[in-house]
Amino acid sequence: MSYDKSVADHYLHGDLLKSIEAALPSLGKTTENISIEDLAAVDEFHIGGRQATSSLIAKLMFSEQHHVLDVGCGLGGAARYVADKYKNNVTGIDLSKEYIETGEALCGWLNLDKQVNLVQGSAMSMPFEDETFDGGYMLHVGMNIEDKAKLFEEIYRVLRPRTFFGIYDVMRQTDDGLIYPVPWATDSSTCKIAVSQQYKETLSDAGFGVSKENNCRDYALDFFKKLREKMATSSEPPPLGLHTLMQESTGVKINNLIENLEKGYIAPVEIIAYRY
Ligand SMILES: C[S@@+](CC[C@H](N)C(=O)[O-])C[C@H]1O[C@@H](n2cnc3c(N)ncnc32)[C@H](O)[C@@H]1O
Repeated sequence: MSYDKSVADHYLHGDLLKSIEAALPSLGKTTENISIEDLAAVDEFHIGGRQATSSLIAKLMFSEQHHVLDVGCGLGGAARYVADKYKNNVTGIDLSKEYIETGEALCGWLNLDKQVNLVQGSAMSMPFEDETFDGGYMLHVGMNIEDKAKLFEEIYRVLRPRTFFGIYDVMRQTDDGLIYPVPWATDSSTCKIAVSQQYKETLSDAGFGVSKENNCRDYALDFFKKLREKMATSSEPPPLGLHTLMQESTGVKINNLIENLEKGYIAPVEIIAYRY
């Protein structure tokens, strides 16, 4: 099996759109009146969800004229957030056919299908012309990609000069082995997490400047503390959430993620890069 297929299979649900649709009545919503905020619980697949997205995006100087790239867009939640906020166009690319097809349906529900274009493909060889985009970002994607040098060369190629690229990935903090499974990998075969130094060096080799680095470990610990407090006071999970994506493996993956964080093995880190 190819490496890309192993990664896509890790994220495969099988009936994701139906599961999301089935949760709408419990939210008192339909496909006609569901909002971007309602969907954020399921379509922002990274630590901190929508809040973390808005924090990163605020640093990237996007505007209405910008065509933005979302690398490893998943269901396209962040892409819809950006398109709605800036009234601009966003293109997302992801390995998972199911995520792209589900994301396209969600764009239709929100009437964002003209602004948001989701494409199935690999970030390592994107079907876009040189210098197509006016900025971009990736949220929790590099943990599945070993060749970060090639990844950043490819991103550099499709960005216009003088644009920002934001990264929010889980990065390695120590040499210790991780506790698996985690949300992005069942075992070490598809877990390619790296230290922030490797990101910065490969970004720089590709031609980027790095303007900011922000270790979000404390933010992540606080986020999970609040999540656990909320879970302790409710008898069942909310209608939509990351459990909709990860199904029965949700509990063990989230618990392992928290344990890896608490032990100091990993941390989510923001890096703001500038394409000269
Ligand atoms: C943890 S999810 C994050 C999804 C999305 N960025 C979000 O935050 O909601 C990681 C995503 O990266 C995608 N991915 C991993 N490697 C990729 C690659 N080489 N090219 C494109 N997408 C990739 C996966 O298919 C998956 O959808």
